[in-house]
Amino acid sequence: MHPKAGNILRLFPEDNGFVSGEHISRELGVSRTAVWKHITALRGAGYMIEAVPSRGYRLVTSPDLLESEVVKSKLRTGRIGQRLVCLKRTLSTNVEAFRLAEDGAAEGTVVIADAQSAGKGRRGRVWSSPCGVNLYCSVVLRPQIMPHEAPQLTFLSAVAVARAIEATTALKPEIKWPNDVLIVGKKVAGLLNEMSSETDRINFVILGIGVNLNMTTDQFPDDLRHPATSLLMESGSRVVRSSFASVMLNELDKLYADFLLSGFAPVRREWQQRCNANGRQVAVSDAGADVVSGMFAGIDGDGALLVQNDEGRIERILSGDVRVV
Ligand code: BTN
Repeated sequence: MHPKAGNILRLFPEDNGFVSGEHISRELGVSRTAVWKHITALRGAGYMIEAVPSRGYRLVTSPDLLESEVVKSKLRTGRIGQRLVCLKRTLSTNVEAFRLAEDGAAEGTVVIADAQSAGKGRRGRVWSSPCGVNLYCSVVLRPQIMPHEAPQLTFLSAVAVARAIEATTALKPEIKWPNDVLIVGKKVAGLLNEMSSETDRINFVILGIGVNLNMTTDQFPDDLRHPATSLLMESGSRVVRSSFASVMLNELDKLYADFLLSGFAPVRREWQQRCNANGRQVAVSDAGADVVSGMFAGIDGDGALLVQNDEGRIERILSGDVRVV
């Protein structure tokens, strides 16, 4: 799509009202004939745009395209997504973002793909990434924190995903330690944080975010370890992927700006409130055997789960499976 056509999308009012041709031509610095050409191009790309003499243009419906002009038109960010790479297909957006970051890509660079042929999950698992239905997104960050503090950013992205689900659906997401986002106990999003660092400094962190938006039961692999779902399956309504992506990136931008200013405390507070174990008893198991049980007591700055055992002592859990009991 021509960048100017993409820029027109930005000018449609959020309340679905009209924008005049004169306003568009003034804002974009192009003639009224050029405006008309761009409107025609948008219609060709699947946008339904009403044109009414003396009132202007009104955006009636948008197609579900994950194109950078479309996502950018809804971004209200200072850092995240200033550079936005949208790909039809890639091995993994994390691999692509890592490569760009090694080549010097600026903080906030985002890679989004329509499909991944080798989507990566945690612990070397595969992240199922069919075409055209979900969000597969990776963000390059260059925070000045110590490498052991990098998990804080995965917690931050879990909060951004939860906020975006709340903003775009009527569903109530919960976060499960370390970083799964759940709807009624089923996994709807996963996060994979990868990093390039030296002993005492981070070169960059890649936040990998996968959200099951419009996936249907038949598109999930048969051998899932835990129950999984999508926003469509839980709400019955399709989610416009570009809208979800921009809402989530807007939230990520706000949270990250706050993180740079105030540190981890605000994210940690919100993460704990949103955690499925908040105020509950939990049991943690590793390789099938229970290792500790007690009261959920939050997370620490390294991302460890804190559990207060029956003697009142706080145990730090670095890995394992947490069940709410
Ligand atoms: C998990 O196992 O829960 C983490 C899944 C992370 C998936 C996302 S999709 C976008 C990014 N690219 C990848 O290859 N993985 C992450």
